[in-house]
Amino acid sequence: MNQASVHRLITAKNKKKSPKELFDFRLAANLGLIQRLFHQLYPQESSENHFQKLLLLLPKLFDSRPEELKVQDLLRLERGNWYQSEKMVGMQLYVEHFYKDLKGLQSKLPYLKDLGINLLHLMPITDRPKGENDGGYAVNKYYGVAKRYGSSQDLLNLTQELRKQNMFLMLDFVVNHTSNEHLWAKKAKAGNKKYQNYYYTYADDTVPKAFEKSMPEVFPETSPGNFTYDPEMKKWVMTVFNSYQWDLNYSNPEVFLEMLSNLVKMVNQGVDVVRFDALAFLWKKMGTISQNLPEAHLLISLFKMCLQTIAPGVIFLAEAIVAPTEIVKYFGEGTREGNECEIAYNASLMALLWNSIATKKTVLLYKTLTNVPAKPKDCTWINYIRCHDDIGLGYDNRFIEEVGWNPQMHRKFLLDYFCQRLDWSTATGLLFMYNPKTGDGRITGSAASLLGLETGLDKKDTDLIKESISKIVLLHGIILSYGGIPLIYAGDEIGTLNDYSFLEEADKKDDSRWVNRPKQNWDVISRLKDQKLPQSQIFHALKKLISTRKKHPVFADHNNLVIHHTGNDHIFAFERTGDSESLLVLANFDEREQVVQSRWIAKLGYFTKGEPKDVVSNKKVTLNSGLLPLKPFQLMWLMKH
Ligand code: GLC
Repeated sequence: MNQASVHRLITAKNKKKSPKELFDFRLAANLGLIQRLFHQLYPQESSENHFQKLLLLLPKLFDSRPEELKVQDLLRLERGNWYQSEKMVGMQLYVEHFYKDLKGLQSKLPYLKDLGINLLHLMPITDRPKGENDGGYAVNKYYGVAKRYGSSQDLLNLTQELRKQNMFLMLDFVVNHTSNEHLWAKKAKAGNKKYQNYYYTYADDTVPKAFEKSMPEVFPETSPGNFTYDPEMKKWVMTVFNSYQWDLNYSNPEVFLEMLSNLVKMVNQGVDVVRFDALAFLWKKMGTISQNLPEAHLLISLFKMCLQTIAPGVIFLAEAIVAPTEIVKYFGEGTREGNECEIAYNASLMALLWNSIATKKTVLLYKTLTNVPAKPKDCTWINYIRCHDDIGLGYDNRFIEEVGWNPQMHRKFLLDYFCQRLDWSTATGLLFMYNPKTGDGRITGSAASLLGLETGLDKKDTDLIKESISKIVLLHGIILSYGGIPLIYAGDEIGTLNDYSFLEEADKKDDSRWVNRPKQNWDVISRLKDQKLPQSQIFHALKKLISTRKKHPVFADHNNLVIHHTGNDHIFAFERTGDSESLLVLANFDEREQVVQSRWIAKLGYFTKGEPKDVVSNKKVTLNSGLLPLKPFQLMWLMKH
């Protein structure tokens, strides 16, 4: 039983108690863990006074939480794992690309509701440096609103409106680094030792060089190395991402205390889900890759145990785009199981789906998914196909080899397929961080362009357009039914193509991720009634899938996923099992019709009441000599009642 379940029990047994009394109960229940985690990171001998500070801080932070949110926290505790519900469907968007600013976004809530969205992930809206700022991931401040998005009051108005409409808000907490313009960085630059110790700063490059021996590079093209010399401070500072993003030094307990306060200030604005940005990088140790270290997990759990005590209705999303076996660890392992992040990005599924599109086969998908350790029952996935970042080819080399491919050649093939280096490929993606020396690289591009819609429209090729619409629906159908929260990337619901305008902007042109950060096309949206438009076909197909998901509790994540082998290498099949109804998902990744044996489907009971209905096409399935045919790129959702 994880700590959240303990709090749920305590809350249920003490309904008459005040929020403050219940806070005291939670503190009592979590304190032992908090103390242990804290001293595992910060030895008691040197950090006793910091622990005392934390003890004083926790009730203060609870007092700072608005009453309305305290009440909501208790309701959420009572309800239990609300984030696993079939009703959850998210959208990720850039406020200014979506519609003007926060007020503008609020005016467009009806559009989002119409599509069926109830969770919004807004890309960073806090203050950031002018010029290069990694799309807001270089933060000058952890809460409040940068002018261009409106005011803090606009954010409070928006969160209030979202609560009224039973919608949820996710914001980023850029926990690993600040910008070089953050107040702490400014003080460090001015020579203040206290703040220099908030970062990893060094008088000369001896230590940086020693670190570099084992640390990989995140942005080798635009920001090589992991350290930057700051002429103002006359010191080296660790900058794992861009040179203007300074890594916070969590081996200093002051940093943890300050960041906990920042986190609470942020969630007190009405945030429901905290996207813990780049959390795999939180702890650094010389001689290691300084990613996924055990101490990073202790730290995340410490944040969780503290925030859960203060605001139990707020949950964490792990942004750990790392190897499949590492991702599940962010849910917490062993005694920390279910006590780190409630949600994690299913980056493995995402990358594997793109691999299946390029290869038209599902072998690597099966190999990987069936070998990844199960997630804890109280945790869930964000399932997505595209986001604001690149697609990394982080497959396990062992699995690539086991399916009979050469890892290096295979990755080259994927880059060639998606990044316009093969005549026959319909994808129009771009390379990201390509290293000609090693041949390593990543892929950028919008879902629609990567799935051939751009080529289809350019060539006015109706068959290609049709095929790409099927692919778009296929991939979305999988993330909507796999188990977890589907997160649609704004624009994908109307098949938005690549946006090449970034090439004209000096502070963006070297970062091809901007090609998949387009403006929302309200002109197209005003014409969605026209069913002839490919964009409107995509929109209406997704809208229908979303509403089907929301009607059937079997889509909720109860750890009820069963992956089935069909014997056909082009098909992906999985089942979501339930007491009163079950769902079988079949997806054909090939451009030709494919068949699967129907016997195993019959054995699962899908034919006991006659031929089952595919709720995607609204048609009963027809068998052909005991074989079930799937059209090119067809998605089927078979229901069993
Ligand atoms: C995360 C963000 C990415 C950003 C990085 C550094 O990975 O998704 O956009 O560049 O963190 O903050």
